[in-house]
Amino acid sequence: MKPLKVALLGCGVVGSQVIRLLHEQADDLAARVGAPLELAGVAVRRLGRKRDIDVDPALLTTDAEALVTRDDVDIVIEVIGGIEPARSLILAALSRGKSVVTANKALLAEDGSTLHEAARTGNGDLYFEASVAGAIPLLRPLRESLAGDRVKRVLGIVNGTTNYILDKMDSTGASFTDALEEAQTLGYAEADPTADVEGFDAAAKAAILAGLAFHSRVRADEVHREGITEITATDVASAKAMGYVIKLLAICARSDDGRSFGVRVHPAMIPRSHPLAGVREAYNAVFVEAESAGQLMFYGKGAGGAPTASAVLGDLVAVGRNRLAGTRGPEESTYADLAVHPMGET
Ligand code: HSE
Repeated sequence: MKPLKVALLGCGVVGSQVIRLLHEQADDLAARVGAPLELAGVAVRRLGRKRDIDVDPALLTTDAEALVTRDDVDIVIEVIGGIEPARSLILAALSRGKSVVTANKALLAEDGSTLHEAARTGNGDLYFEASVAGAIPLLRPLRESLAGDRVKRVLGIVNGTTNYILDKMDSTGASFTDALEEAQTLGYAEADPTADVEGFDAAAKAAILAGLAFHSRVRADEVHREGITEITATDVASAKAMGYVIKLLAICARSDDGRSFGVRVHPAMIPRSHPLAGVREAYNAVFVEAESAGQLMFYGKGAGGAPTASAVLGDLVAVGRNRLAGTRGPEESTYADLAVHPMGET
């Protein structure tokens, strides 16, 4: 069987784990997809840098554009993050009929509609399970399994770095700065951790979740956002003394009349008996409440190289199968005419 050729953009914490899994699980992946997955090239910022993984130097290139536009490339995986050059590279790939797997929540929350439109026009797939809550299968359940239901609320912890920081401050009395440094060393934080601690990362994820849950388009700048930088060790200790724990929550809620919804991200005091209070370290947990399904809970590793790579590989298998079958995955379903409440309230 002719292999499907995969171009990888980025070889950092997530990209190196994607390469490891592609190598280690090559036979299983080929059997699951129906064709071998062959790495066509890896775009990096600098050649000759020490990496977490051994990569054939012949595969490395600094010319990402030439890689994604190569005729023999079928699928592009984007794990470089940020808006540019990720957006131009993804659009270049989609406009040439390639399928794209991305973990890029910031880009999806800023300009998802352009990407979806390009996938539709180019007749390729755009899959993005890894963009929210790392390893936890959450977007596909919202997009597919709950497609026949009416989601009322999505609420949870979607940023591993801030959960790690708040958990360390709560359990060991560590300072904000020390806990952040640990989270960075463990590979949870974004390249610029401001995105984590100021709530931008969680706001982008909340926008993606709300878009899927309410079949609408939501941009990150429509999400009410407050980070954790103002929270002191004293705040955490006082909350603890009163039987509470501080968590950064993302909340997407439909209004009672069903005609609007609010999306917000902010720190909240949670009773220690609440299931979200037990979410430790960089774990994520998301509650979904739907009219017929009732309450559902999703829990798992929300950040880190291997967990995020697991979600990327799951998408890779799905888009590989679609390509062989000559089909595409589900369209973006943005039929609902709901208003986003400007302050995130409902
Ligand atoms: N910086 C992100 C987090 C990585 O801490 O959750 C996963 O999106």
